[in-house]
Amino acid sequence: MLATVVFLAFWVVVGLGLFFLAVRGGPRGVRATLQSQKPGARTFAVIAFTVFYVAVGIAVPALFIFGDRDSADAHINGTTIELTKQEEEGRALFGTGCANCHTLAAAEAVGKVGPNLDVLKPPQELTYDAIVRGRQRGGGTMPAGIYSGAEAEAVAAFVGATAGR
Ligand code: HEC
Repeated sequence: MLATVVFLAFWVVVGLGLFFLAVRGGPRGVRATLQSQKPGARTFAVIAFTVFYVAVGIAVPALFIFGDRDSADAHINGTTIELTKQEEEGRALFGTGCANCHTLAAAEAVGKVGPNLDVLKPPQELTYDAIVRGRQRGGGTMPAGIYSGAEAEAVAAFVGATAGR
């Protein structure tokens, strides 16, 4: 949102500059103005450059600092997977509740107790079931009910969308 505003503001400044250029009779007119020794022209040049550099100097860092962070995407081996709000929430929950035991690149998880989810690629429903009911088949134990309800659904959605990708 803010990034858009700054972006627009930048082009408004550029647009006004071009407009001014046109009014002054094109580049040659501006050059004549800038190079003339008249104090007024000097002052104009100083103000114009100051305004321009301050605008750019504020706009560019602002873009980086306040940039649009609404879409927190998962970056895996150079590919980007867009996450929904729910999946984003699931990623945070995965970090606290699952990452200790499971490997999942999208969550930067490297746990080794349970199966590697990037290899297993469990569908959303299976993951939900595993979270709610737990697992115990001899390959170790996954406790039941680490998450329930909406939280379990969010984690399952996140795993379903990212495992193995
Ligand atoms: C204490 C370690 C531990 C934690 C924490 C844990 N798991 Fe597991 N998980 C396991 C183990 C061990 C298995 C394999 C169990 C088996 O095969 O008997 C497993 C199996 C699974 C499976 C495969 C189920 C199947 O039927 O094949 C999925 C999916 C899974 N876990 C997802 C999760 C998610 C999501 C979380 C976080 C909510 C989580 N696990 C937290 C240890 C853990």
